[in-house]
Amino acid sequence: MKQSQITYWCHEVIRSQAPKGGLYVDATMGNGKDTVFLCGLAGEEGKVLAFDIQACALDEAKTLLEREGYAGRARLILDGHENMDQYVQDGTVDVICFNFGYLPGGDHSISTLPQTSLAAVSKGLSALKSGGMMSLCIYSGKDTGFEEKECLMEYLKGLPAKDFTVIENKYLNRGNHPPSPVFLFKR
Ligand SMILES: C[S@@+](CC[C@H](N)C(=O)[O-])C[C@H]1O[C@@H](n2cnc3c(N)ncnc32)[C@H](O)[C@@H]1O
Repeated sequence: MKQSQITYWCHEVIRSQAPKGGLYVDATMGNGKDTVFLCGLAGEEGKVLAFDIQACALDEAKTLLEREGYAGRARLILDGHENMDQYVQDGTVDVICFNFGYLPGGDHSISTLPQTSLAAVSKGLSALKSGGMMSLCIYSGKDTGFEEKECLMEYLKGLPAKDFTVIENKYLNRGNHPPSPVFLFKR
């Protein structure tokens, strides 16, 4: 039942907003599934920038993109998303996608971290166009702990309503700290 998967919901919301031919950022590339999804939305005129700090993630994503025929549409960047302002100008990005945590099938000790995640979200908000959106898939518990989610939620709650609409989704009946999808729209 694909509808119960967190990425399914995030993708559906992004799909409902994303313009063709836009500029998209995958802030947590991992194995490249979100990058491929964004490349499909971007279309031939669009561009995707994808970030990860692990070379093995770039290798996996590159292979997947080549298999899907999107090799020329995405720029894969071996750098932290907290440095995204070095690669995109403020007010130019249509969609930014974050899928926090560790690389599926990879080393669980290499994960997104509260301070760099906060810096990246903050820079991402500046990079978004007016009318652009950000999707955040936030995990907690197990190997991840709770600090990152707490930091991010505190920050998101404090964003001025005149500038951003912030919507949190929730699994109400799922145990073991289910992931939280949050969607943010820049006015
Ligand atoms: C849950 S995975 C992403 C899954 C991915 N979107 C996919 O479709 O497979 C999180 C990724 O974030 C990466 N990451 C951790 N810290 C990062 C940082 N500061 N900047 C960019 N990526 C980071 C990890 O290496 C990991 O590959």
